[in-house]
Amino acid sequence: MINRILCIGAGYVGGPTMAVIAKHCPDVHVVVADINPERVAAWQSGNPPIYEPGLREAVGVSLGRNLQFTSDVERAIRDAEMIFVSVNTPTKTFGQGAGRAADLQYWEKTARNILRNARGPTIVVEKSTLPVRTAEAMDRIFKNGRSDLHFEVLSNPEFLAEGTAIADLESPDRVLIGGAETPSGQAATQELVDIYARWVPRERILTTGIWSAELSKLAANAFLAQRVSSINAVSAICEQTGADVLDVARVIGADQRIGDQFLRAGVGFGGSCFQKDILNLVYLCEQAGLHDVARYWETVVTMNQYQKERFVRRMIRVMFNTLAGKRIAVLGFAFKANTGDTRESPAIEICRELAAEQAHVCITDPQALDGARRALADVEHGVTFEPDPYKAAEGAHAVAVLTEWPEYRTLDYQRVYSRMERPAFFFDGRNLLDPEELHRIGFNVYPIGRPDRTDL
Ligand code: NAD
Ligand code: UGA
Repeated sequence: MINRILCIGAGYVGGPTMAVIAKHCPDVHVVVADINPERVAAWQSGNPPIYEPGLREAVGVSLGRNLQFTSDVERAIRDAEMIFVSVNTPTKTFGQGAGRAADLQYWEKTARNILRNARGPTIVVEKSTLPVRTAEAMDRIFKNGRSDLHFEVLSNPEFLAEGTAIADLESPDRVLIGGAETPSGQAATQELVDIYARWVPRERILTTGIWSAELSKLAANAFLAQRVSSINAVSAICEQTGADVLDVARVIGADQRIGDQFLRAGVGFGGSCFQKDILNLVYLCEQAGLHDVARYWETVVTMNQYQKERFVRRMIRVMFNTLAGKRIAVLGFAFKANTGDTRESPAIEICRELAAEQAHVCITDPQALDGARRALADVEHGVTFEPDPYKAAEGAHAVAVLTEWPEYRTLDYQRVYSRMERPAFFFDGRNLLDPEELHRIGFNVYPIGRPDRTDL
């Protein structure tokens, strides 16, 4: 039985995942190590460095009991029997495969660190999302590096979504564990199954070969992103034909074979993973000579890009073909509601485009204003940041909803309208609000994939 677990990487995945493991395994000592001392200090203080509903409480259950955060990665490696690796694997920005392939430098540095510092047989668990056959490369590094110790590599990709991370970890649709077919591979797989089985029903713990596990993670994200791009493509057709994307999504989703999740049209998907993982898949396909398959998946990203551009083009068109000097209140900058994460948020590109049109963009968000400032740090003119949505809308020509924060449903839009310039435009990039109601107040309303409500 495993008694000492380490997770390397205290980010959006490592922190929440280990908090939930520690909670359900009070007899197992869980350490989370990271090279970023500020992040570690925040976690260790009980005030997590990321915003995630229920996270602080989840960490509080075990912190100081069997959960600890540290920046002494080497020491933590020496003490661990099972090491999860949850470091970032962003898209490569340099050299071969730039803009597509996964940048594996953090993962490989971590593997070499484990190799140098491990003191006993160690199970190394890939938690990060990685290209297929990364585990094989790791295995080679371990086998060639040390003959005195046995390292067993497992793949255990994470499926949590931000904003619902704790609920997803507490009650996952499935946990996936990929291990080698060898006796030691199967024994290691069983050790990890036993950990999850403390709170996850056995039938939801799926075991496969390592390559299947690695590929399943990339494929699952590609399928999810593909659904978003598909409904966004339908939303463009709706706007041209007068159909309503909410009706179409309801009808499509009523078919049990299709299902009703992930059919919300919007300004496009964001987040640190969808685009990166699809591009990673595209790169894998190209490397394998599967050029048609690569093109197929690439269109998911192309459509996402189109959706963001289309949104801005429509704003310009309906606002009399010029945004110069106009004030635009942007409601929401996070890539989705209930997170402060702005990585790859569609708002980044949309706000940049608006500023390039010489609009004055005033951004508000309940959790992501710091992220917004960082993401737009190089934009010299035309962007300001305002925590109060009413102030953001003061004197504005238009409001654009870019994140579906529940608090934006209940704003007093009469009050918002009364302080805006006329005609007042409302671009609901998430179909969050009732367009009829907004129109009754006086707004000219442009939802996504739904008929405009306008007096112009
Ligand atoms: P993150 O950037 O929030 O966290 C990664 C952490 O790893 C950082 O704190 C960084 O300082 C640390 N790190 C980097 N190199 C290190 C090293 N050599 N030693 C110690 N620490 C190191 O990333 P994340 O969002 O948690 O994602 C991690 C992985 O999980 C990625 O592969 C991602 O694709 C995958 N994933 C993410 C999500 C999500 O919702 N964010 C969901 C599922 C899977
Ligand atoms: C996604 C997956 O849902 C997780 O299973 C996966 O573990 C994770 O990526 C990952 O690998 O990082 P996440 O990106 O946190 O999770 O959030 P999602 O809820 O999937 O939303 C992604 C993006 O798609 C958001 O910008 C969201 O606004 C958008 N989206 C989602 C839509 O535009 N419409 C929808 O119907 C659903």
